[in-house]
Amino acid sequence: TALAVVLTMAATAQTTEIPDTSYQLPPLLITQSGKAIHTAAGWEKHRPEVLALFEKYVYGKTPAKKIPVRFVTLSVNTTALNGAATRKQVRAYFSKDEKYFMDMLLYLPNNTGKPAPLFLGLNFGGNQTINADTGILISKRWVRYEEGAAYKDHHATEASRGVQAGRWPVEEIINRGYGLATIYYGDLQPDSSNSINAGIAPLFYKDGQTKPAPGEWGAIGVWAWGLGRAMDYLETDPAVDAKRVAVIGHSRLGKTALWAGAQDKRFALVISNNSGEGGAAITRRKYGETITKINTAFPHWFCDNYKAYNDREDELPVDFHELVALIAPRPVYVASASQDLWSDPTGEYLSAWHAGEVYKLYNLTGLPGAVPPTVNTPVGSGSIGYHIREGGHDIQLYDWQQYLDFADRFFK
Ligand code: GCU
Repeated sequence: TALAVVLTMAATAQTTEIPDTSYQLPPLLITQSGKAIHTAAGWEKHRPEVLALFEKYVYGKTPAKKIPVRFVTLSVNTTALNGAATRKQVRAYFSKDEKYFMDMLLYLPNNTGKPAPLFLGLNFGGNQTINADTGILISKRWVRYEEGAAYKDHHATEASRGVQAGRWPVEEIINRGYGLATIYYGDLQPDSSNSINAGIAPLFYKDGQTKPAPGEWGAIGVWAWGLGRAMDYLETDPAVDAKRVAVIGHSRLGKTALWAGAQDKRFALVISNNSGEGGAAITRRKYGETITKINTAFPHWFCDNYKAYNDREDELPVDFHELVALIAPRPVYVASASQDLWSDPTGEYLSAWHAGEVYKLYNLTGLPGAVPPTVNTPVGSGSIGYHIREGGHDIQLYDWQQYLDFADRFFK
């Protein structure tokens, strides 16, 4: 039996349009062969089926091939942030000719006497944008931005230092006893259409292959792969507690964080900030961004099979509450912003709420009910957290404070 979800108008109180609230979600607790799932063991057996559907129809499959990765520490500064942190920059080479690589920037709290739990996330503009610290290497890669002093001809200038510092409260993170690791997502693949061969994907091609097959990865899959390689490094760094790493991302990088967390159970906690369509939001609501809109504006993000679902949300073999459920039993946090209707805050909430059915199988608690909370009122005292922040599409100090509090419950 399919689960019919009919929501009350109260559930959409903060939105300005009346959304379509009559849709049928693919049921979480029924296997592909139609058997009801009643236990955590039953879910664990079914879980690979769900993951395979996301691979086949949404993000594309990440190549199984393992390539050798060589990590080289480029710099270490033990007196960063006025002595509060150690800054490391580590390059991961993906090919012998050193043509393919990504640069990781890490800040680790000093004097804690133990390996640090850490937040790992990709950034949009180059590592140097996250803090004004002049020791950060300026990315030489292509960036989407072109306007203003910070970027000229799609490349960062000296003036880009710290321009996104508001999104990365490094001092606060360090003060709370956490480390931070970040990578420019363009190190893995430029965020533009027809960019797949300008990223790391060709390293995985079979002889004669010129692009991924329709069920193989797009940019989100490539970016998520980079997070996995970052995790490989973190496991080797004695200053990091790799068992307490939270993967975090905003917007398209929130979609990426969810997909990374779904595929790689080493991420102990997963945070989706305003991830919207193709992230946490229920696509069958057809509210804000839709599959057609996202595939048209960003044809390189998902696998080619996903395009078959343009205007056919109801036929997609999955919906995104199942993506959140793939994180179970690990803690997950989903956040929205009140003016970010394009990301469908209500759809993001509902996804996180529905995923609770799977957490329940592990005797874990999800979100309280079908009605989203009011702004700036975090909810979820169990393994699923949610808030809707007052304001627009962004990740701000308020959001981070909630993530730090949430992480404290599991990591401290
Ligand atoms: C666009 C896109 C969203 C995405 C966002 C972002 O608005 O339509 O899907 O999440 O960019 O990454 O900021």
